[in-house]
Amino acid sequence: MQGREILIGVTGGIAAYKTAVLVSRLVQSGAGVTVVMTRSAAELVAPRTFEALSGRPVPSEMFGPGRIHPHIELSQSADLLCIAPATANIIAKAACGLADDLLSTLLLSFEGPVLMAPAMNTVMWEKPSVQRNVKQIQADGIMLAGPESGYLSCGQTGAGRMSEPEAIFAAIERILQQRNMRDVSK
Ligand SMILES: Cc1cc2nc3c(=O)[nH]c(=O)nc-3n(C[C@H](O)[C@H](O)[C@H](O)COP(=O)(O)O)c2cc1C
Repeated sequence: MQGREILIGVTGGIAAYKTAVLVSRLVQSGAGVTVVMTRSAAELVAPRTFEALSGRPVPSEMFGPGRIHPHIELSQSADLLCIAPATANIIAKAACGLADDLLSTLLLSFEGPVLMAPAMNTVMWEKPSVQRNVKQIQADGIMLAGPESGYLSCGQTGAGRMSEPEAIFAAIERILQQRNMRDVSK
């Protein structure tokens, strides 16, 4: 992963705390990591956690200080965008091309591979609307890691648990290797 640039989007699922492990794993593997959080995500895990682990600022606002076109500048320098956890909300926004905050606008501006790790309670995951949106984003080329079945933070057991950080890391590595092989064979 040396020299790779990875964008990590964090949305407002309780599994956001596990994304800290993913970011640390990526950094230790030699990747440069920029984390973008939604406002809901920042309610669950402090942006400073990701700043400390990535060694970089964690933007979440479209119109904050600093970059003039944050979505464009961030999207141009990255090899892959991974959204973990991916809420029902960001999946719905991706399915219909909504861009009402920095992360969803970045998702629309980004031309590279996108991996999402959905995480939500089983009732949400099994809703026809969510399943419809999941099918749509897959048809549009977004790749999924998980979700798994298991213990959920609401106390239930079922489908909707975010994949473990190591599995998401392996999926990122696999996607980048496949693209590398494709580029070499061109
Ligand atoms: C404690 C807590 C945990 C939540 N966990 C999830 C979750 O795992 N998955 C999900 O889709 N929404 C979850 N939500 C709801 C989202 O935060 C909410 O739908 C929000 O609008 C998502 O916004 P975002 O996609 O911009 O981050 C949770 C909310 C709270 C208060």
